Amino acid sequence: MKVLVTAGPTREKIDAVRFLTNRSTGKMGYALAEAARDAGHEVTLVSGPVALAVPRGITLVPVESAAEMAEAVKERAPQMALVIMCAAVADYRPKLVVAGKMKKREGDLVLELERTEDILKSLGRMKPDGQLLVGFAAETDDLLANAAEKLEKKNLDWICANDVGRSDIGFGSDENCVTLLGRDGRRYGIGPDTKRAVAEAILEIVTDSGQ
Ligand code: CTP
Ligand code: CA
Repeated sequence: MKVLVTAGPTREKIDAVRFLTNRSTGKMGYALAEAARDAGHEVTLVSGPVALAVPRGITLVPVESAAEMAEAVKERAPQMALVIMCAAVADYRPKLVVAGKMKKREGDLVLELERTEDILKSLGRMKPDGQLLVGFAAETDDLLANAAEKLEKKNLDWICANDVGRSDIGFGSDENCVTLLGRDGRRYGIGPDTKRAVAEAILEIVTDSGQ
C-alpha cells in the first residue's frame, strides 16, 4: 500500500535567524514510517526539521514551514491509500517575516501572528474514495472529547489521542501511550510502550479496518 506519513515540528520564520516552533522531535512519525516500511508498504515521509537519521528505504521529503508541508502533502496525498498526519504543525506564523536580522529596541515587541492552513482538514475535504486518513490529537485537557471532535471536524477515519501534558512519555521521549479512536466508534488503548511498538499497533489496526 502507498503510505504517506508526516513527522516533526514546523518552523515559522520571524526573521533571518529566528523562528517559532514546538517540542516535537519527530520520533513518533519516524517510527510510523519505519514500521510501515517494514510491513512492506511503500512509504513517503514528509518531515519537518528533526535530529533523526534518514530512514533507509523510504522517500524522505524534508520541509520547514507549515506552508511547505501543506504543499508537499497535498501534492502527494491523492495517490496514497493511507495518510497519517503525525507532524506537530504550527497553528500560527508571523504575519510579516523581517528581512535580515531584526534589531532590538527599547520596550516590548509585539509579534502579529496569522493562522496557517489546517493541512489535515484540507486532506479530509479532498479525501479520495477508499483512502484512510489518520490524524493525531495533541491535548493536555479533555483528551478524548477533543480528539473525537477533531476526528469528526476533519473527516478522519482514525485519530490517535495523545496526552502531551504528561512529562514521563510523549513529546521527546522514546515511549508513548495513545488512545486510537475510529470514526465507527471503535476505541483502542495502546501503550505505554516504545514508539515503535505503538506505531506497529496503530498500523495494524488501521490497515485491518478494511475501509
Ligand atoms: N494539523 C494540520 N495542520 C495544522 C495543524 C494541525 O494538519 N495547521 C494536524 C496535525 O498534524 C494533527 C491534527 O491536525 O494530526 C491535530 O492537531 P492538533 O494540534 O492536535 O489540533 P488542532 O486542530 O491544531 O487544534 P488545537 O491545536 O487548537 O488543539
Ligand atoms: Ca494545533
